[in-house]
Amino acid sequence: MDYTHFFLVATTTLGLISISKSLFHFFHWIYATLIRPTKNLKHYGSWAIITGSTDGIGKSMALEFASNGLNILLLGRNPLKLQVTSKDILDQFKDVEVKCVVVDLHNNTGDEIMKKIEQAIDGLDVGILVNAAGVAYPYARYFHEVDLDLMDSIIKVNVEGATLVTKAVIPSMIKKKKGAIINIGSGSTVVLPSYPLVTLYAASKAYLAMFSACTNLEYKHQGIDIQCQVPLFVSTKMTRMKASLFVPTPDVYSKTFIFFTGGKEDLLRTPKSKQRVILKQISIDDDAKFGFLFLLNQHLCER
Ligand SMILES: NC(=O)c1ccc[n+]([C@@H]2O[C@H](COP(=O)([O-])OP(=O)(O)OC[C@H]3O[C@@H](n4cnc5c(N)ncnc54)[C@H](OP(=O)(O)O)[C@@H]3O)[C@@H](O)[C@H]2O)c1
Repeated sequence: MDYTHFFLVATTTLGLISISKSLFHFFHWIYATLIRPTKNLKHYGSWAIITGSTDGIGKSMALEFASNGLNILLLGRNPLKLQVTSKDILDQFKDVEVKCVVVDLHNNTGDEIMKKIEQAIDGLDVGILVNAAGVAYPYARYFHEVDLDLMDSIIKVNVEGATLVTKAVIPSMIKKKKGAIINIGSGSTVVLPSYPLVTLYAASKAYLAMFSACTNLEYKHQGIDIQCQVPLFVSTKMTRMKASLFVPTPDVYSKTFIFFTGGKEDLLRTPKSKQRVILKQISIDDDAKFGFLFLLNQHLCER
């Protein structure tokens, strides 16, 4: 084989591999988005535990799980908001049970959080855990300007909170060799190489992505599916964004969330495909991105 012929065969082979990979991803996307049936969530167990269930995405998920016939254990820091959520669920879904546990992931100690949850789940057939509680910056700022309380809160709720709740719940799943744990990360982990001016929030969500990937490998042979779902913008009190074509309401988001829950191939999943498609196309260099984020934040420009 002369050199030109070899070169032609090699480049054609590489081209075919690349096209096959793209086709595989495309057909997998079609299957996962349009064809794959929704998993029977009761298969994991009859109770779902949701942190951050008093507002936004967590609350919508609690209602969505209840609509699928699951009993709900609501975890939250505010007893009144827990009562309201519980009533909302029971008013709509008569056949489910709801329990509430008051846990403040920022102000309770690790020991208190673990004990409260272990006591609450004792004797329950827990199938699903969703770590949805989260804290973000109220507005963008440089890292050195983040006050200690906010810094503490982001690390305690987003990082330590999800870790401790998982540690409290996973032994019961290991015992019955079944369960699903879904950590709510952030689309920034998947679509952006960095997310300046909200550094601590972005870093806390990157932790969750890695935590989910590692624990998934540790426990998938024990029948436990662990995912990190990574939404982009959803219209909640955290983002203060209005719902639009690309910014779903938490109720719309939660329906897609349920659809992808437990999909083994979807370790890191941005449920809303419209957002995913758009953001995957955006490729700007770090300086341009920093300038763009800076301009978006009027208070930084005005200095
Ligand atoms: N919205 C988005 O665009 C978006 C995008 C990517 C990722 N996420 C993630 O999705 C999750 C839900 O966010 P969201 O938009 O629904 O926010 P949200 O409406 O502000 O709800 C946050 C939930 O976390 C709870 N929480 C906050 N601090 C807590 C603490 N110390 N102890 C216990 N619970 C606490 C809140 O309780 P209270 O009701 O008492 O305030 C609330 O239930 C978060 O992890 C967030 O980072 C959201």
